Amino acid sequence: MHKDIEKILYSEKDIENIVNTIAKQIEKDYNDKDFIMVGLLKGSVAFMVDLMRKVNLDFSIDFIVASSYGSGTVSSGRVNIQKDISQSVEGKDILIVEDIIDSGNTLDFITKYLKAKKAKSVKLCTLFNKPDRRVADIHIDYAGAVIPDEFIVGYGLDYDEKYRNLPYVGVLKPSVYS
Ligand code: PRP
Ligand code: MN
Ligand code: MG
Repeated sequence: MHKDIEKILYSEKDIENIVNTIAKQIEKDYNDKDFIMVGLLKGSVAFMVDLMRKVNLDFSIDFIVASSYGSGTVSSGRVNIQKDISQSVEGKDILIVEDIIDSGNTLDFITKYLKAKKAKSVKLCTLFNKPDRRVADIHIDYAGAVIPDEFIVGYGLDYDEKYRNLPYVGVLKPSVYS
């Protein structure tokens, strides 16, 4: 285990099971749809590549690079799009893939943004849902696991751009950020 990790919350195997469950639900719901799976980078990087390979349907993928946290542990509330989606979303069903929903500000902003670009539907898929600090009123369509209000890292999730490469998800030692 990495020296900065206090405890592991989800092992590689745990995550694999969650991904498989969500993939099956998506297969069922999107069976007859022409959809785009849109990963929100950078946090969704690991989840996106694992999830898309488990969904046995025809669809395209795309990415939006957006962030609101910078180097802090609390949402700034301002969402920056650093790289936009590379295709038209007009009339398309969009499935947004996110690593974690916390305040909900990021997803609220991105959902409205894609709807303004005339997407036919926008659904949200997140690996982790942290409802304790929710600010925005958003509806999550697919959620892997509910997590307590602890700062977690790994499997795409960072603190100050580190720990994204850990294959598991763990709680960061408070001494690292205090
Ligand atoms: C994190 C995470 C989500 C968002 C969730 O992204 O990946 O996108 O915050 O928080 P919210 O619900 O409070 O908006 P971050 O801004 O850290 O960028 P990153 O994906 O590049 O790490
Ligand atoms: Mn993110
Ligand atoms: Mg981040």
